[in-house]
Amino acid sequence: MKDLGTKELMTKHLILKVPTMKEQKKLYDILMIPEVNKYYLSINKKYKNNLLSWENQKQFYENKITTALSKDRYEWSVFLKETGECIGQINAHNRNDLSNDIKDVGWYIEPKYQGNGYASEAARAMLNYMFYEVGISGIITSAAILNVASWRIMEKLGFVREKDTKFNEYTFVDESVESYVYKINSEQYTKYNN
Ligand SMILES: CC(C)(COP(=O)(O)OP(=O)(O)OC[C@H]1O[C@@H](n2cnc3c(N)ncnc32)[C@H](O)[C@@H]1OP(=O)(O)O)[C@@H](O)C(=O)NCCC(=O)NCCS
Repeated sequence: MKDLGTKELMTKHLILKVPTMKEQKKLYDILMIPEVNKYYLSINKKYKNNLLSWENQKQFYENKITTALSKDRYEWSVFLKETGECIGQINAHNRNDLSNDIKDVGWYIEPKYQGNGYASEAARAMLNYMFYEVGISGIITSAAILNVASWRIMEKLGFVREKDTKFNEYTFVDESVESYVYKINSEQYTKYNN
């Protein structure tokens, strides 16, 4: 694996761009929509109140942007080609319990643009880049069982669902949430997507 960092990617309808501060307020506004953050945000619940104000969050986003160009970061702001509007975000990230060549993934799309295949399109572009150019060995991730749209994307890309479920904590959900665990390695990805 070679850490290449985030690189602009183009799909039929979207441009996946290296994040800049310009679109971060829009992304924050999307993330604060309850149906978007419900099964996405897993920041420790004790920071819940801080999340509610852009003024508190701005510094966090500014820090995020300063590291966005690091070669070990993989996070894209998703723009509609046709209008230039920023409609979501997608990332492949490290997890403390995984080696550097195995990533977890995350994605969200503004509700008014959901259901058009945009997240699937962005996920495919990101994973092609991560597997074929960066050369990661695999993805291990999970999605709430109730979050059908998210695990449908995983299944469409050939991710394999584990027999055992796990329970995830989400920032704005009081109880633990039963979730499917999905894995895919580079051989499986290549075979499934060719
Ligand atoms: C998950 C999410 C990114 C999907 O975005 P999207 O652009 O609507 O996704 P797509 O249009 O590519 O659809 C993906 C699949 O889910 C299906 N789907 C979409 N919405 C659905 C719903 N509400 N219920 C069931 N299936 C749904 C689509 O039909 C598609 O499957 P198909 O190709 O077999 O028809 C979006 O719902 C979202 O932002 N959710 C909130 C954030 C989140 O939970 N992120 C994931 C955390 S694991």
